[in-house]
Amino acid sequence: MAKLGLTATVMVAALALVAMAARLAHAVADDPKKVDKWFNRLSHAERKTTRLRFYFHDTVSGKSPTAARIAEATMTKKSPTLFGVVFMIDDPLTEGPEPESPLVGRAQGFYGSAGLESLSLLMNINLVFTSPEYNGSTLSIMGHNPTYETYREMPIVGGTGFFRLASGVATAKTYFLNLTTFDAVVEYNVLAMHY
Ligand SMILES: *[C@@H]1O[C@H](CO)[C@@H](O)[C@H](O)[C@H]1NC(C)=O
Ligand SMILES: *[C@@H]1O[C@H](CO)[C@@H](O)[C@H](O)[C@H]1NC(C)=O
Repeated sequence: MAKLGLTATVMVAALALVAMAARLAHAVADDPKKVDKWFNRLSHAERKTTRLRFYFHDTVSGKSPTAARIAEATMTKKSPTLFGVVFMIDDPLTEGPEPESPLVGRAQGFYGSAGLESLSLLMNINLVFTSPEYNGSTLSIMGHNPTYETYREMPIVGGTGFFRLASGVATAKTYFLNLTTFDAVVEYNVLAMHY
């Protein structure tokens, strides 16, 4: 009985290693032939679902901001919604809401004020993961972010590595907003389907 238990434990550990190796296998971009081989096997592949939660730290103020204002429209000064302002970001993504919480990746890309009448952002960002499980894999968000709403739903439009051919839904909710500096911490819940 004890021996069987041990064998089962070893087998589970070995399977976990294989699963991890498979995950890590395409963390670094493959050459086109390997991608093609992977693609041709897809008809037998099972679709996977991954759920993620992390916190997005958008720092626009201070000595080391992670969001930089890169463009604005000439009309921006008169616009109550800052229409036409664009920020490029490289924001840390952490496990918990505190800034010192473990880093799981970064949000790289840009957002811009796309609403004339109300503050609504166009988000065009890549979630670039660095946690051991998803290291090097990415998910891309392209969506409408009406920041005044409690929950903002944005589409996951693709992915790479572990998240190849991803589609899904990201839900953002402001966790903390400094009304003086506009530095923000936003909770993201992501549901992604991929192969
Ligand atoms: C992630 O991948 C990079 C580049 O391949 C490597 O330098 C780094 O150590 C990896 N990090 C983890 C946590 O596996
Ligand atoms: C907002 O930021 C300002 C400037 O850094 C700081 O003095 C203030 O304490 C912050 N407010 C909150 C609620 O954290």
